[in-house]
Amino acid sequence: MFQAAVQRFSVSAAAESVCRAIFLVGFRRYCKKTSTKLRVSEALSGAQLGSDVKVQGWVRSVRPQKDNLFLHVNDGSSLQSLQIVAGAKLNDPLLTFGSAVEVTGVLKKSPHQKQPVELEAEQIRVVGECNPIDFPFKIKERHSLEYIRKLPHLRCRTNAFSSLLRVRSEATAAIHSYFKDNGFVQIHTPIITSNDCEGAGELFRVEPSGPDYVDDEDFFSVPAFLTVSGQLHLEVISGAFSKVYTFGPSFRAENSQTRRHLAEFFMVEAEISFTESLEDLTRVMEDMFRSATEHVLAHCVEDVDLFHRHVTPGHRDTVEAMLNKSFPVITYTEAIEILHRHSEKFTFPTHWGCDLKTEHEKYLVKHCGNVPVFVTDYPYDLKPFYARDNQDHPKHTAAAVDLLVPGVGELCGGSLREERLNLLMARLKQVGLEDTYSWYLDLRRFGSVPHGGFGLGFERYLQCILGVDNIKDVIPFPRFSHSCLL
Ligand code: 4AD
Ligand code: MG
Repeated sequence: MFQAAVQRFSVSAAAESVCRAIFLVGFRRYCKKTSTKLRVSEALSGAQLGSDVKVQGWVRSVRPQKDNLFLHVNDGSSLQSLQIVAGAKLNDPLLTFGSAVEVTGVLKKSPHQKQPVELEAEQIRVVGECNPIDFPFKIKERHSLEYIRKLPHLRCRTNAFSSLLRVRSEATAAIHSYFKDNGFVQIHTPIITSNDCEGAGELFRVEPSGPDYVDDEDFFSVPAFLTVSGQLHLEVISGAFSKVYTFGPSFRAENSQTRRHLAEFFMVEAEISFTESLEDLTRVMEDMFRSATEHVLAHCVEDVDLFHRHVTPGHRDTVEAMLNKSFPVITYTEAIEILHRHSEKFTFPTHWGCDLKTEHEKYLVKHCGNVPVFVTDYPYDLKPFYARDNQDHPKHTAAAVDLLVPGVGELCGGSLREERLNLLMARLKQVGLEDTYSWYLDLRRFGSVPHGGFGLGFERYLQCILGVDNIKDVIPFPRFSHSCLL
């Protein structure tokens, strides 16, 4: 009997401990409720209404009230920030403009029209403090592009620059898509090179530095430079691939601080074999411009709008006009005639054979209806050794083309390449580069075909579609003479 009682007691004790274990696991699970981590743009899409979520970002506004606390949090995924609503007890003096936070709570439909979704916070953790007195951006103030340019380590915290960075990323993707959809193969051309493609001598020399470096020895055994253009390497590959492109940084030691020159900029370059005429190139330039621009306008609506409303009001109409009309084509000789007729408007006089200055390029664009305009057939002597000789006279020209665009001037430069061995050899001999470019001459010996290509300045492209006056405002870390911050 005693034994039975003991047995009954131990069975109920075992049952009790099992129940306690189940309860504890359940309770712990309840306390450790897992929240889905969302980006602000995902939270704003409204797809996860009613879910427990976690959002991480930087505070863009703080508004404490008697019973509630309102925050706006941004993580770079969209121009819009996510509104956080919390009870006043979650307020914390460290929750300041610019601080980094992690918020968990439930996504709710917002009663406010402007904001479809808000996050009802259960917990707010300050991950990184930000002293609002020292922080150079002030809540609710609109800072000019000139002001934020002086703070390259912090300007991504502003609406304008974060919009620019998203547009830049989307435009990059659009350009790659254009080439992929049209059968081009991407080639990674080198950054370090031993050639001066443009022959302008605007090169940065590359050499090692450090204690192990012997001063009188060339690391590469030949002088090496940062590339000014990937064209010649693309031309090598276009000896076996009919459509190739590259998209990467180019470097020019131009000692000028203009609104459209950088020492380091990104260039999109294409090379096409079996070209018949400059039209084969202008078609690709125009198509790529349209395709990338339409993509950006469709996928970055709010970001582009910020520039078209607040930076250059009315620029949207200019961009739409560019997309609605086909780009006119004029020859360099016609361009000079137009400029002569209006010579009183320019600081620099023009004559047949002169290089066009920005003021001339901008005037030609206006003259042609403020849309992009192709200028073809430049004086032979103005163009580098690779440009194809038109063999005309008395005004000797090369089959080269520039695309000039509103607000910027030259956006693209391209040409047919001299594919005829004898003519190319004669020109290289003239400038004493026959030996340096013996490999380039080989390309004309072994299966040479008519070919051509162009380069587009990516920062100038962004200036053109967004209406940004200064090139330093469309690149994350601008490099130019006397400035290499960070
Ligand atoms: O006209 P460019 O010098 O042409 C070339 O380099 C050719 N090799 C390209 C080719 O045919 N593959 O440069 C092309 C474009 C210019 O039209 C301009 O938009 C941009 O590159 N560019 C610059 N952008 C910013 N800063 C600079 N210093 C630039 N120099 C040229
Ligand atoms: Mg050029």
